[in-house]
Amino acid sequence: MNGEISTPTDELTQRLSASPRGARLARRLTAMQLTAWGHPHDSEVNDTAQHLVAELAANAVTHGRVPGRDFELRLLLLPEDTLRIEVSDPRGDRPLRFINDAYGEHGRGLILVTLLARTWGVSERDVGKTVWAEIGLRRA
Ligand SMILES: Nc1ncnc2c1ncn2[C@@H]1O[C@H](COP(=O)(O)OP(=O)(O)OP(=O)(O)O)[C@@H](O)[C@H]1O
Ligand SMILES: [Mg+2]
Repeated sequence: MNGEISTPTDELTQRLSASPRGARLARRLTAMQLTAWGHPHDSEVNDTAQHLVAELAANAVTHGRVPGRDFELRLLLLPEDTLRIEVSDPRGDRPLRFINDAYGEHGRGLILVTLLARTWGVSERDVGKTVWAEIGLRRA
């Protein structure tokens, strides 16, 4: 876990296969859960959460994949209108890095995460790591 976080008022935790299908499912589950939490599909919050989960899940199933192991999605509704997204993968031996290649085909994921999230980071787990991101739920 990343230090202390406030106790969530609600949460979703789901293990998913480390595959493109698992990553797509993570995004769809996020859209459904955000809808259930009062942020419909076409809302900005739902859209932002979907983008964040899509990038973090894509990274988990490509860079963070260990054959035969799942990855895990958690969505936490925190007090003070904060959504915390956590995507955990089993690889502890690979650091995240910013790719400085403006015209390249890679390195967009974490830039997008940086732009969309209010704050984000990586925390170690016993096995692997958790990449987390938080966004505000109040309308801008
Ligand atoms: N979950 C992860 N586990 C291990 N390494 C990661 C993880 N996420 C990102 N990285 C590392 O950080 C780099 C940057 O990630 P980023 O998402 O920005 O780019 P990308 O995944 O390579 O390409 P793109 O997201 O544009 O398709 C990756 O290339 C990889 O080396
Ligand atoms: Mg990526």
